Amino acid sequence: MNENDFAISCRGLTRRFGPVTAVSNLDLDVPRGRIFGFLGPNGSGKSTTMRLLCGLLVPSAGRATVLGCRVPEEAEKLRLQMGYMTQKFSLYEDLTVLENLRFVARVFDLGLRRMRERIAVNSKLYELDDLHSRLAGTLSGGQKQRLALAAVTLHEPRLLLLDEPTSAVDPQSRRDFWDRLFELADEGTTILVSTHFMDEAERCHRLTFLDRGAMVREGPPQELMDRLEAITVEVATRMPRRTRALLDPNDWVLAVTQLGNRLRVMLRPDTASPVERIDALLKQASLHGTVRRTGATLEDVFVAATNFQRPSR
Ligand SMILES: Nc1ncnc2c1ncn2[C@@H]1O[C@H](COP(=O)(O)OP(=O)(O)OP(=O)(O)O)[C@@H](O)[C@H]1O
Ligand SMILES: [Mg+2]
Repeated sequence: MNENDFAISCRGLTRRFGPVTAVSNLDLDVPRGRIFGFLGPNGSGKSTTMRLLCGLLVPSAGRATVLGCRVPEEAEKLRLQMGYMTQKFSLYEDLTVLENLRFVARVFDLGLRRMRERIAVNSKLYELDDLHSRLAGTLSGGQKQRLALAAVTLHEPRLLLLDEPTSAVDPQSRRDFWDRLFELADEGTTILVSTHFMDEAERCHRLTFLDRGAMVREGPPQELMDRLEAITVEVATRMPRRTRALLDPNDWVLAVTQLGNRLRVMLRPDTASPVERIDALLKQASLHGTVRRTGATLEDVFVAATNFQRPSR
């Protein structure tokens, strides 16, 4: 495959802000018509990468090609072909829902007939019909995000960059929102979406994990879980905090996460007889607990990708 088979392709993409390297030497290939997830802790460079791909920021080094155009040099050619939904609501709070949609239609030169058609279609799709006359500033978080998605897809772009589009949305609306993303992908739209929700990440065709600006994992979700470089174990106990304190100091224990009365424990992959080993530790400390092996989750992948490499570990 060459650059043009991908909706987005970048090599060595780097952006520095003074002493901070927000995006570090990033190589990325996003296949067309796929949903590509962007994950990583706060400040890991997700939003900065999206801004670079839109041509809104100039890279410090490296190059990026988006829908066959070099960015930022040819970004103007991309304007009508891509949509970017920013992390922060960027429509006009003092305009009504309908006025916002009309404004966006004008920015994208839709013409009167297509504008009417597209606003009708998206208002229905995103359940905005009853909200047309409401000031955007008075909408709830989830309603704002529906409006933002309706606006960003109004001109039917081939590529969508969505920066945490569901952060304020309830679980049912998030599910509806993702159904819409799949429909768009089926229609051929490429979607790059950042999220902190692991259930959403699991639905993507492919994922990239960023940490401190650099790519630390890349691949289909299942493959990333299968490739996890740790043994995963669950400990059910009435004393999760004490049990955690017991496990944490061992060098064969990579990470411990408490989930109510359960602990999710990641162990070095070469740990022999892991269940028996933890059982023995609990016994020695007169703690009761049930230990069992479990499969890896994407959250484990996230922790492995972003925590194991911290200098403190
Ligand atoms: N305009 C800017 N000026 C200076 N530093 C910036 C600027 N934009 C981003 N940064 C820094 O670059 C790094 C990456 O920020 P970015 O917003 O891309 O992270 P993110 O992964 O989107 O985080 P979040 O999950 O919190 O949205 C951070 O350290 C941030 O402070
Ligand atoms: Mg961000």
